[in-house]
Amino acid sequence: MELSAALYDYLDFKPATGSFLTDVLAGLSAQPKALPPKYFYDTRGSELFEAICELPEYYPTRTELAMLNAAAPEMAARIGSRSAIVEYGSGSATKTPTLIHAVQPVAYVAIDISGDQLRSAVTQLAHQFPRVRMFAVCADYTRSVPLPQLDAADVQRRVVYFPGSTIGNFTVPESHAFLVNARQVAGREGAMLVGVDLKKDARILNAAYDDAAGVTAAFNLNLLSRINRELGADFDLDHYEHRAHYDEHAGRIEMHLVSRRDQEVRIDGRTFNFSAGETIHTENSYKYSIEEFQQLARSAGFNAEHYWVDPHALFSIHYLTVAE
Ligand code: AVJ
Repeated sequence: MELSAALYDYLDFKPATGSFLTDVLAGLSAQPKALPPKYFYDTRGSELFEAICELPEYYPTRTELAMLNAAAPEMAARIGSRSAIVEYGSGSATKTPTLIHAVQPVAYVAIDISGDQLRSAVTQLAHQFPRVRMFAVCADYTRSVPLPQLDAADVQRRVVYFPGSTIGNFTVPESHAFLVNARQVAGREGAMLVGVDLKKDARILNAAYDDAAGVTAAFNLNLLSRINRELGADFDLDHYEHRAHYDEHAGRIEMHLVSRRDQEVRIDGRTFNFSAGETIHTENSYKYSIEEFQQLARSAGFNAEHYWVDPHALFSIHYLTVAE
């Protein structure tokens, strides 16, 4: 008799720490300096992001969750029976139970770069939905990810789930490439459910990324703490400050860390110079109109079949199907 069957299958493709060092050295050598936002999410950064989601100014999480609660039955009807849900960047997976409850898929695959958070999220889901076959894939999905084999006889439709407007971290060409890959993952009869933050008044956007309590500032600065902790660098956090602003022309929030003075930092035997006012560009968060996003989805081989918008037109969820 099997005493403890595994709750879920764990597939580990976690990138080596060496790639963090390589990316940091390359990013700080570039002109202008930049660091990839995927490195925000160490344990502390993931906690700070959870705190951001609770802020009064940060509307996306609660808006998307309310929309999902309202529309889940409709989404389930579109998806139909015997589906597999493949979630990219599952994080704490707070929205996932609502979707799984409504859709009742045969399988659920969570993909995330943060292994600890992935395990705890999928363990909880596996207890909550014992009849859904679960997979946890620890990987950097901005590169190619090997996915578990899902039994084709069992699964009628694969649905790529990409909530949270995480797609906003990508430039438009990167988003296009991501959507093309998602279409291939979904395959024939497949679909995609994607949360996309909408263009809106710059004041609302600026407040959402520069909150009064300073949580977003702490989230941004934690990237430097992480580099100190994991790569032995000597950033002095008091000498950098958080800046976020909406660039209306580019249609994106930009987050930066601004050097308050001329200074230098040592990392792995190398020295990087900062002049006063120089910045490290740490994140883009692109915003789309409904039409812009639908056009992008179509250019990647999807039909823009349906979308939902909240009553204040803050956020959108698109249901895309793979075009023949
Ligand atoms: C997780 C990428 C969707 O862009 O709104 C929140 C990250 N950065 N506040 C976003 C974030 C600052 C967030 N995404």
